Amino acid sequence: MVTVETNREWTRTTKGTRMGELLRRYWHPVAAAGELDQHPVKPVRLLGEDLVLYRGKDGSYGLLARHCAHRRADLSYGYVDDCGLRCSYHGWAYDREGHCTSAPFEDEVGNRFPRERVRQPAYPTRTMAGLVFAYLGPQPAPLLPNWELFEYENGFCQIVMAPVPCNWLQCAENDVDPVHFEWLHANWSFAQAGKEERAPRHLGIQIDEWEYGYAYGRVIEGSGELTPFSRYRRLHLMPNLFMPGLHFEYRVPVDDENTLSVVWFYDPVPDDRRPFAQDSIPYWYARTTDPQTGRWITTHVINQDTVAWVGQGRIVDRENEHLVRSDRGVAMFRRRLIEDMNKVERGEDPTGVIRDPLKNKVVHWPDDRRSVLTKGLPRDEWLARKARSSESGLVGTNDYFSFYAGQPEHVRRLYEEAMGYEPAQARASLP
Ligand code: FES
Ligand SMILES: [Fe+2]
Repeated sequence: MVTVETNREWTRTTKGTRMGELLRRYWHPVAAAGELDQHPVKPVRLLGEDLVLYRGKDGSYGLLARHCAHRRADLSYGYVDDCGLRCSYHGWAYDREGHCTSAPFEDEVGNRFPRERVRQPAYPTRTMAGLVFAYLGPQPAPLLPNWELFEYENGFCQIVMAPVPCNWLQCAENDVDPVHFEWLHANWSFAQAGKEERAPRHLGIQIDEWEYGYAYGRVIEGSGELTPFSRYRRLHLMPNLFMPGLHFEYRVPVDDENTLSVVWFYDPVPDDRRPFAQDSIPYWYARTTDPQTGRWITTHVINQDTVAWVGQGRIVDRENEHLVRSDRGVAMFRRRLIEDMNKVERGEDPTGVIRDPLKNKVVHWPDDRRSVLTKGLPRDEWLARKARSSESGLVGTNDYFSFYAGQPEHVRRLYEEAMGYEPAQARASLP
């Protein structure tokens, strides 16, 4: 049974708290690089800290504390020039290490204090696969994990983000909860569509630990034993990353009561479109509520997950829950978090922190999905799969993106161009 005090410990994200310190040992995605193409300054909140991300004239990124060291104006209303990020209030400018590179009036009157003594708090950033990551922990920073999925070629990638008004841990606990697929996604979708149909039942679940987190499999009615592939189709990477096949779902802890959902999708193009490469990875913000009713959207997969997460409250009252056999993964995950918080307190690295560059050349999965997932499919087979998946959920007839509501038209067009097809083709290929 989880006490109120324990629950508080697990859900705090700020500096100096046990969980806040654990979370500070990992890199977290805070923006799509494409966002900074459009506007080079973005306000960011991560682990309870207000920050500002900017892209300098030289193309490099800086991440600074939000409030200017002078008289605390909001630097997210600043602008970028040759000196770095310039505060709009009195024009002080900072480089990406937080040095004051210009303080116009003080420079004029020969006061060197701002340049010599003032330091705006600054954090390191890295970019990978069209995402900008931030690290708020102690130096030396670990390596930014180069997961195998980021290495796959010939795929159309897109980044989808959505603010989620609840604590990150309840989102991450959902990642080690296999039985919810049957109910939250399959059966609820059937019910919403007015269908009597029911998904095949779960007969058993298996949660295995691997070096970076958990891999799980399910025995499903009618499917017999777990095959090696289905066994490991879903991976959880400590502490807050889910990899259910061909995409990453980051549950980025904004603060104790807010999460940023950052999802990075990879969709291999059919055989006849290879080789394929993208100049830049498009990004968009998902639609999560119905503007007319103000209710959560319930039709798309991660929208359904969102309903479950936020429905538990801003911070779920774990003292009132009843953990049972289906929650085996949740219990294992919590135990690992406690061990990892203890490790951090002892000055050790927690699970999944990588410091060896050789190891990080590519971090492989515990199964061989590369051959299964990146092999180019012949167009006919590819179309049939696409049609089946688009028919399986509740998504609108023209909506081929079943994960999140609100995919913009221009992203859908880019996707169709990359794949070389029109949606009608996929529908026509249904048996
Ligand atoms: S508050 Fe930023 S320059 Fe004065
Ligand atoms: Fe889910």
